[in-house]
Amino acid sequence: MSIASHALWVACLGLPALAADRIEGPGLGSPVSAQSVAARNTSIYPDGRGLPEGRGSAGDGRLVYQQKCASCHGERGEGGSGGHLVGRGPLTGSDADKAVGNYWPSATTLFAFTRRAMPMDAPGSLSADDTYAVTAFLLYLNGIVGADEALDARSLPAVRMPNRDGFVWIDAVQPEKPR
Ligand code: HEC
Repeated sequence: MSIASHALWVACLGLPALAADRIEGPGLGSPVSAQSVAARNTSIYPDGRGLPEGRGSAGDGRLVYQQKCASCHGERGEGGSGGHLVGRGPLTGSDADKAVGNYWPSATTLFAFTRRAMPMDAPGSLSADDTYAVTAFLLYLNGIVGADEALDARSLPAVRMPNRDGFVWIDAVQPEKPR
């Protein structure tokens, strides 16, 4: 390659970068706050790794549920615009009725999903205590824990979900922290 053609090649490579500097975005969306990123930047594993400090029972969670969940999921998890959260029927058959009680394999996933995504109109807004409490209330509605059983980072992973053995388990390795 001659020096001249090499120079041309370098110049061509530089062009898209220059052009990109001048293109303005479509003006959609809004900046994401550090707090909002932190609320979603959580990984909770089936064995409980990643669970925060905190504690709550179904008795504590009843009020949280009534105030923040029932409008979409029904007074006792029977469903509404947000779908039902209680289900105990069999998963066999072509029209299986999958729900927390008969389908979800681990209680920690219920905690993780609720903490990250619910209530749908204010995701990430629940405190750790309220998340433990409302998780306990949903497990209570599904007949899995008692009303007074307090859940925390130690007891939640020990809750045995009815469909625990209905899944193929792949051991998730926690990614290394970036240096
Ligand atoms: C504004 C309506 C709304 C509110 C309030 C709300 N949810 Fe939901 N929720 C939804 C919708 C819609 C879905 C279905 C989302 C999807 O499938 O991606 C859902 C899904 C869920 C699921 C997954 C159900 C499944 O089996 O797939 C859980 C668990 C859940 N919500 C818990 C809660 C809890 C706990 C609260 C209160 C802290 C809450 N939700 C408040 C609308 C809502």
